Parts: sequence; structure tokens; C-alpha cells
Amino acid sequence: MDRLCVRPEVEAFRPYVPGRSIEEIQDQYGLSQVIKMASNENPLGTSPVVQERLRRAAPLAFRYAQAGTPRLSAAIARHVGVDPAMVVAGNGSDEIIDLLIRVVPRPGEDHVLAFRPCFSIYETQSRFAGIPLRQVPLPESLDFDLDALAAAATEHTALVFLTNPDNPSGHAVPAAAVLDLLARLPRRTLLVVDEAYVDFADPMEHYTVLAQVAAHPRLVVLRTFSKMYGLAGLRLGFGVMAPELADLLLRVKLPFSVNVLAEQAGLAALEDEIFVEETRRVVLEGRAYLFEELSRLGCSPRPSQANFLMFCPPKPADEVFHALLGRGIIIRPLASYGMPQWLRVSVGTAAENRLLIRHLEEVLA
Ligand SMILES: Cc1ncc(COP(=O)(O)O)c(C=O)c1O
Repeated sequence: MDRLCVRPEVEAFRPYVPGRSIEEIQDQYGLSQVIKMASNENPLGTSPVVQERLRRAAPLAFRYAQAGTPRLSAAIARHVGVDPAMVVAGNGSDEIIDLLIRVVPRPGEDHVLAFRPCFSIYETQSRFAGIPLRQVPLPESLDFDLDALAAAATEHTALVFLTNPDNPSGHAVPAAAVLDLLARLPRRTLLVVDEAYVDFADPMEHYTVLAQVAAHPRLVVLRTFSKMYGLAGLRLGFGVMAPELADLLLRVKLPFSVNVLAEQAGLAALEDEIFVEETRRVVLEGRAYLFEELSRLGCSPRPSQANFLMFCPPKPADEVFHALLGRGIIIRPLASYGMPQWLRVSVGTAAENRLLIRHLEEVLA
């Protein structure tokens, strides 16, 4: 058969490797009860207020959403205290990352810059757009070397991605350090601060730079509804940026990438302050508990400002990962991040966290 005529670089792509699903593990191990602590989802599930709004919005599924979802952007803008013209809502923050990579760097001239390891979507979407990704290796501590990042930026660095707090380490730097980095970047470079996990930083105000975007046209902040707001499956995220840049993104974004149900869910989620407060309490308490227990078990957890913890078990990580799978607990191996000896666990409910620790203790015994 003739070979397909496609861009040869696309043939080199491998499919995204997601966390293993509950159904898959139930079938593979014949288990009825499986818990998933692998994808940094909300341990409390979907807010009841959002569920009710979704039930009421279900009859709207035949309609196209309003292009660019201006009502949602206005509600987000009110919520975070910026001008609505600075907000672009997308099909997850993944979509905003993709749009920035396709809108800002000039193919053949520019590149984007990030640490290594970094969130895989920066890599895949850069490659897909034909834009080189340059990476500054993180030191063994996984703390950010912002001097090295600033030194690596040139006049052809169109975007710098900084994940704060970082995934998978949970490490975070204060807002002042991020602004200092911005001040040291070349004049045309945009700093994109991916704050997917900043809702769990303690205190959040110490770390977020969202309030600074209005004063800094070269600063972009990304947020998501997938974690704190429990809407990972509906796909909703947003970017806050200079109005001129937001306008350009909205011109090329597929018009209905945020669907009517995601829009309604987002509006309801912003109103449900009780769910957000409860999520924050459960995650911060669970994170402290897991940190203490993982330390007790000799697993060297990294201090984390996110809703997950990275740890290095005293037995081979792959063996521990599979032993936990067999006991119905899915966590995340970090081999795909180039760290085969490390594992990452999302903070669960108090009961899930206790169960994980009980099983881990047996596996390590
Ligand atoms: C650092 C980081 N940025 C962005 C995202 C994407 O979030 P969304 O679900 O909004 O596309 C994730 C999801 O895991 C993430 O870890």
C-alpha cells in the first residue's frame, strides 16, 4: 500500500501517556474497588452546585456556544479582578498553551524556552508547530535556577514557560522572583507563568503574579478549572494577558472549543465558594499528612505547594507502582519525565490518603 503523504515530523510523535484509568485497572487485576491518585484531579469530585447547573443546562446541548464565550470571560475577569478584554477561555489551559505557541513565535526564527523536565504539552505543541523548544536542565534538587533560565533567553526567545508551582515536583517560587525573572528577559520575550496549581499554594497570594499582568504586557498567566474547580473532564482553562494579545488569540482560536456545558459549569464553579474552600482544606491537610507519612516510610517526599507530592521510595519505583496497582491504587510513575526512580501521588480524600499509606507500608515492608 502507498505510504500516506503527511508531514514526516508528525510520524515521529508518540501518543500522550495519561495516568492509568480506573476501568483499565479493574479489568486487569479483577478488582472491584480502585482509587485513582494519578492525575491531580479534585479529590472531592464535581461540585454539587456545578452538577445541578449541568442538569439544567443539558437541554442546551444542541446549541453552539457564543463564540469566544464572552459571558464566561467576563465572570472569570470579575473573579480574578482584571479587565474582561484580558481573558481568553479555552478547552483546558492546554488550548491556551497551544495557541500561544502558534501565535507568538515566528517559525524559522524564534524558539520557546522552559526547564527540563517540563509539562509535556509545551514540548508536543512546540514540535507540532515547528518551533524549537530549548530547555534548561533543572538541578538535582529540582529547585528553579531562574538565573540560568534568564541567561538562556535571547532576542529569539519568543516565550518562556514557567510552571509555578511546578509539575511534577510541587516546587514554587514567590511572585517577587517571577517578576524579577520577567525584568531580566529580552524586550520582546513573553513570560508565560502556568499557575495550574497555584490555588493550592499556601498562601496563594505569595506566589501568584496574576494581579501583575495589567502592569506588565509581556506577562501571561495560565489557570485551569481542572484541579481546584474539579472540571478536568469538561475541559476548561483560561489565560490572562495583554488585551492586544488576547484579541489575536481569539481571532485564531476555534470558535466553539469551549462548549455550552463547560461554559455553564465554569460559571457555576466560580459561584461555589464553599466547594473551593473545602477542596483547599482537604488538599492542604492531606498534603501535610502525606508528607509526614511518606517521610516516615523513608520515601523522601519533595516539599510541595501543589495538590500532589513527588517521592522516591526506598525500593525500585516501578516495582512499588505495580504493587500498588495490584492493590487497586493508581499513582503516577515519572519515567516519562526522565525520573524513573520517582513517583508522584495526587492528594486524595483523608480515607484515600490513609489507604495509600497503609498499602505502601506493606509494599515497602
Ligand atoms: C502544569 C500544567 N499545566 C497545564 C495543565 C493542563 O490543564 P488543563 O486540564 O486545563 O488543560 C496541566 C494538567 O495536568 C498541568 O499539569
